[in-house]
Amino acid sequence: MAKIIGLGKYVPEKVLTNFDLEKIVDTSDEWITTRTGIKERHIAHKGVGASHLAYEASKIAFKRAGLHAGDIDLIIVATITPDTSFPSTACYLQSLLKANKAACFDVSAACAGFVYALTTGWQFIKSGLYKNVLVVGSEVLSTITDWSDRSTCVLFGDGAGAAVLTKSNKDNFLSAYLGGDGNEAELLIVPGGGSRHPASEETVKNKLHFIKMRGNELFRIAVRVMVKAAKSALAKAELGIEDVDLLIPHQANDRIISAVAERLNLPREKVYVNITRYGNMSSASSAVALCEAYEEGKIKKDSVVVLDAFGGGLVWGSIVIKWG
Ligand code: UT7
Repeated sequence: MAKIIGLGKYVPEKVLTNFDLEKIVDTSDEWITTRTGIKERHIAHKGVGASHLAYEASKIAFKRAGLHAGDIDLIIVATITPDTSFPSTACYLQSLLKANKAACFDVSAACAGFVYALTTGWQFIKSGLYKNVLVVGSEVLSTITDWSDRSTCVLFGDGAGAAVLTKSNKDNFLSAYLGGDGNEAELLIVPGGGSRHPASEETVKNKLHFIKMRGNELFRIAVRVMVKAAKSALAKAELGIEDVDLLIPHQANDRIISAVAERLNLPREKVYVNITRYGNMSSASSAVALCEAYEEGKIKKDSVVVLDAFGGGLVWGSIVIKWG
C-alpha cells in the first residue's frame, strides 16, 4: 500500500504570452483564448533538458516529503522530450539528485504519462519491491514545437511536476484505469528521429522532428475517453461522481475540460484548471496541476481526487486517490 508524501513543481522563468505569439505567427490572443483557454506558457532556455526541470521539481517534493534523494529506491520519469533517446531522463535525474541507490526508467505515454507513471510507481510499492518511489512528469515541448505552425505552436509549454510515494499502512490509491488505441497513432505524433525515420537531411527538411496534430479529430476522442476513464476508475473504486472532491483533468484545451466536466455532471468548482498560465505541458500538466491544487488548499485530508488524462498513442488513464 502506498501514499503520496510530497509534491513539487517547476516551470522555467521565461513567459511567452499570446501577444508574443501574434508577432511570430498569424494568430491572435482572441483566437487562442476563446479556442483553448490559454493566455501564456513558460519556455525553457536553449540547452535545458527535461531532467533539469525534473530536478527542480523533485527537490521541492523531497523537502516536503521529509526524505533525501538517497532514500529513493526507484525514479520513474514520464516524458516525450527526453534529454536523449537514451540513456533515460530518469538516469540523468538520478545523477543530478545523487539518488545513488535508485533504479531508473522513463515512461512514454505522452500527455497521459504522469498518470501511467504514478500507477506504475504505486504498483511497485504495492508489490513490496520498493519503499520510496519518485514519479516525475517533465517536458521541454518547446524543443519539438514547429514555431511556424500556428495550429500547434500556440498550445504547448514547458514544465515539470514531481511526486514522492512511500509505503504506508493504508492505500491512498483507490484505483486506476489505463487504456490505449495504437490504431490512431497518426493523430498526434513526432514522426522523425526514431527507428522508422532516423534523423536525416530529409527528415529535418520535412520538419518530421516536430509535433504533428490533427486537433479536431483528437478533440472528440479526448472528451469521450476521458469521460470513460474517469467513470471506469471510479467504478473500480466503488465510488460515484458525487464522491469526487476534485477532478484534475489533463490541460490540453479548456473546452475539452468543460465538455468532460459537463458529461460527468461535475460542477466547475470541482474541476482544477490552470491551462491559462501554462498551456499544454503533456505529461507535466497533470503533475503540475496536482501540485498546485494541493498548494492552493483544494486537496485536504480524505479528499477524493481523480486524475484524468489523454494523449498521443493514443493513450488515456485515470487514477482515484483518497488523500491521506
Ligand atoms: O494533449 C492531448 C491531445 N491534444 C488534444 O486533445 C487537442 C485537441 N484539439 C484541440 O484542442 C483543438 O482542436 C485545437 C485547439 C487544436 C484547434 O481548435 P479548433 O476549434 O478545433 O480549430 P480548427 O483546427 O478547427 O481550426 C479552425 C480555424 C481554421 O481556419 P478555417 O479553416 O476555419 O479558416 C484554422 O486554420 O482556426 C484556424 N486556426 C487558427 N487561427 C488563428 C488554427 N490555429 C489557429 C491559430 N490562430 N493559432
